[in-house]
Amino acid sequence: MNLSEFQSEWMPRFDAFLYSELDARVPSQENLHKAMAYSLMGGGKRIRPLLVLATLWLADGEIADGFAAAAALEYIHTYSLIHDDLPAMDDDDYRRGRLTSHKVFGESTAILAGDALLTAAFEILAQSSDIPAEKRIKLIDLLAKASGPNGMIAGQMDDVEGEKKALTIEELKQVHDKKTGALIRYAVTAGCLIADADELFITEMERYSRHLGLAYQIHNDLKDVVLDEAETGKTIHHDAALNKNTYPSLLGIAGAIQELNDVIRQAEDCLNRVVLSNGDTENKIDVFRQILDYVRI
Ligand code: IPE
Ligand code: IPE
Ligand code: MG
Ligand code: MG
Repeated sequence: MNLSEFQSEWMPRFDAFLYSELDARVPSQENLHKAMAYSLMGGGKRIRPLLVLATLWLADGEIADGFAAAAALEYIHTYSLIHDDLPAMDDDDYRRGRLTSHKVFGESTAILAGDALLTAAFEILAQSSDIPAEKRIKLIDLLAKASGPNGMIAGQMDDVEGEKKALTIEELKQVHDKKTGALIRYAVTAGCLIADADELFITEMERYSRHLGLAYQIHNDLKDVVLDEAETGKTIHHDAALNKNTYPSLLGIAGAIQELNDVIRQAEDCLNRVVLSNGDTENKIDVFRQILDYVRI
């Protein structure tokens, strides 16, 4: 099975699950439901849920066992974008080619929709009765760590503070590792945990996800400077307007592309080592190589 076959088979089912969870959890507040649904079903690439499910598949687990963790992760990612776009943060009017949440629903509803997605994520995981209680607690703990004050939120704080000072490339790498990497790493870790993957597999796949997370943010920042608005679905050249530290701003476009290609190569090396340690993964690993196409320029 290649990546697009995997996506055709699993992502519509996952999307149905994601939406049914929303219906189950917000039965009465119509405007909150609308705002949550607007961002949740608004054309995201679903890369994080895809990684959870594909990791489970690679590790010979039951793919559907990953739905709750994948949904919780996508809820958190979606909340992080709603808040990231707020006037007090990046002040973006467009995302995915549509108006941002606060532009459509107003700031207070956008803040509350984000809060609701964040809270509901943990409810989904806590209630995922197909997963043994001990694993569920571990998944909840890891998700809190990845998204919280030592993970994504710390990265967002560094990103905002960075608007007032120039970072070194090493410092910026650490910011990206928290801001974007932490949730991407969680996807792979959750898949490994649910599938009871062995230690060597976990080590290499977590390394892969660390490289992918960094590549993902470098690629995101490169798009801001090399693509047009129709392609990004966002206002371009916005990072420079906010004085953000990015790979392109610190290294130039060519330098950032070179770093990106280097990180992609390191991610590929991890996948080669997974196959070396377990030949049975050979037929499936191409899906993870193809996931790297998301971050190629
Ligand atoms: C955008 O993430 C923000 C970053 C962390 C780089 P995605 O590019 O995964 O967002 P969607 O969900 O596909 O729009
Ligand atoms: C978004 O980072 C990362 C999180 C929301 C955690 P950016 O601010 O760099 O991403 P875009 O450009 O708005 O998608
Ligand atoms: Mg931001
Ligand atoms: Mg932003």
